[in-house]
Amino acid sequence: MPRPLIVGNWKMNKTASEAVAFIRDLYERVSASPHADVVIAPPFTALESARNALGPSSWISLGAQDVHWETYGAFTGEVSAPMLRELDCRYVIVGHSERRTFFGERDENIQKKVLASLRHGLSPILCVGESLAEREAGRTESAVTAQLSGGLAGLTTQDLAAVAIAYEPIWAIGTGRNATPDDAGGMAEKIRSTVADRISSEAASGVRILYGGSVNAANIKDFMAKSEIDGALVGGASLDPDNFASIVRYWM
Ligand code: PGA
Repeated sequence: MPRPLIVGNWKMNKTASEAVAFIRDLYERVSASPHADVVIAPPFTALESARNALGPSSWISLGAQDVHWETYGAFTGEVSAPMLRELDCRYVIVGHSERRTFFGERDENIQKKVLASLRHGLSPILCVGESLAEREAGRTESAVTAQLSGGLAGLTTQDLAAVAIAYEPIWAIGTGRNATPDDAGGMAEKIRSTVADRISSEAASGVRILYGGSVNAANIKDFMAKSEIDGALVGGASLDPDNFASIVRYWM
């Protein structure tokens, strides 16, 4: 069983000083290390302050919410993997549905981001998930499989050891509607078998598959009870230290 991974995706929330206050508050609520890798992903502007507030050997790792595939250059507004590494980021969310929907991200560019992350020692968290229209048309599996094939193209078994895949049905994000744990577990199983087909069975057994979409302290145990699900990508419920602490305590 891969070690569980729990990621708080703050999206466009919290200034640098609010990030520091969150970390101090969370440390007071959770004093020992949980039996899981815990990541917070603040906006770029709060990464440095968050790094300093976390301190050198924290049980919380830092993640970014996006990355550009080039190392440097004329890409106004973008941030590269080496820039994130220098701030001690270890993870980066790639291909989130909000990036796909609002900023036109395509699988082709998402795959370049995955490769650039790996090249520079960041662990990418590749997000996949179907829209409501795709679900209603019975195209959930084909939509997710296409995103996986695009995002993971050219990756090796060794690469996959550093990759996590987050299954986030778009209709469940920020809506208070969840996939049922059975649905989410079934899709996680399907994702694992797609990784086995496309890459290798070794890659499939080691890759961490997360569920995301309205995860909270009350429902975390239901998702984690599914053996195919190795963790969670949490949006709204990761913004409040009390809520996030209650989720993290599942692994204490
Ligand atoms: P949510 O967001 O938990 O607020 O639904 C999850 C995500 O978008 O990663």
